[in-house]
Amino acid sequence: MFDDKRLLAALAAASEDQIVFDLQGIGERHASLKRELPGVAVRFAMKACPVDAVVEFLARQGAGFDAASPGEIATALGAGAPPGSVHYGNTVKSDQHILDAFRLGVRDFATDSVEDVRAIATHAPGARVFCRLATTGNGALWGLSGKSGCSGPEAVRVAETARAMGLRFSGLSVHVGSQQMTTEAWTGAFDSLAEVLIALKQKGILLDHVNLGGGLPALGYLDEQGRPLIPPLDRIFETIRAGMGRLRQAAGARLAFVIEPGRYLVADHGAIRAHVARLSDRELLDGRRRRWLYLSCGKFNGLYEMDRIQYRLEFPAHRDGEYGPAIVAGPSCDSDDAAGHGRYPARVPLGVASGDPVWILSSGAYTTSYTTLGFNGFSPLPYTVAPAGDTDGRKRPTRVFTTVTATPF
Ligand SMILES: Cc1ncc(COP(=O)(O)O)c(C=O)c1O
Repeated sequence: MFDDKRLLAALAAASEDQIVFDLQGIGERHASLKRELPGVAVRFAMKACPVDAVVEFLARQGAGFDAASPGEIATALGAGAPPGSVHYGNTVKSDQHILDAFRLGVRDFATDSVEDVRAIATHAPGARVFCRLATTGNGALWGLSGKSGCSGPEAVRVAETARAMGLRFSGLSVHVGSQQMTTEAWTGAFDSLAEVLIALKQKGILLDHVNLGGGLPALGYLDEQGRPLIPPLDRIFETIRAGMGRLRQAAGARLAFVIEPGRYLVADHGAIRAHVARLSDRELLDGRRRRWLYLSCGKFNGLYEMDRIQYRLEFPAHRDGEYGPAIVAGPSCDSDDAAGHGRYPARVPLGVASGDPVWILSSGAYTTSYTTLGFNGFSPLPYTVAPAGDTDGRKRPTRVFTTVTATPF
């Protein structure tokens, strides 16, 4: 299923550890999303990959941005995004951050509480706010329930407060949970949206848009036990199209839609060239032997999500030869730095030597944002961007890649 030839060519060309992004692959995902959901405005959730080259590229493709802080807003604007295409999608905001965002030209703010609405009315007078409805997060690998979002009745109170304080209450949003694997979660989200939309309409509060949030899945992950995670993507899109139709009907007026994909756009078009630190075979306290494969890159070098998924690994120097089970772990001396909490082994070549390259596929989402600044002295990975517009993955000269060393911020 992993067939990004440009990315594989970039990995093959890399002689040092780095994360590589294939802009053309990201562009193709963006284009296919626009085809699947015609007329829906795509705003990339920057937290999934706050890499300048990726943000600039998506801005050139006409994407807007879901930013979670003034820092992300500044990055989006610096990449050429018009302020009107950027919204402040984080329901958690200090007074100062609301003010900073407003000064940067942002006029659309996510909210989920009366307290936040009051602060927006004070520091971003006249802004537009949309309220995030809580979801259960069921069916997702990362549920995102609890910290953000409110009930339907609370959303109505939030809307009334916004209106009373001179804000424009413009919409509703949801997030079905990241790497959402089911259609049922989307159906449930549309049920809640329809209910609240109707309750607001009865109070004379009309929405101009619904924000469908993130949650669209990556296609190239393995679950924590190493089985392919195959999301029902076509059915998810069908469910979203049907849900939008329902909401348009319930609104009885023009209703725009926004979607905030993060993982879906970048996960499968970023990959890491790492190397083997050591393959060890140790007897443990229970008297049984266990193999551990320590890589140069782990949880603290961006693979934070390795406690819920296994990444597909390729060992280009060991395509043939004997494979066997080993727990995959990162290079730090922290015991949490292991795939699946050290419970589930992957199949690895038994002939690997320290220094052998390993490719960690579908690792383009959240990796740069979860990277520590030097846990145990391991520096952040530099990143490399394969530029778009070159469709020949076979004979690309390595010099066309741009390598940028991550700088502490
Ligand atoms: C408000 C918001 N929108 C979109 C996203 C992106 O989610 P995903 O990567 O699952 O598409 C997130 C992720 O946390 C989020 O918080």
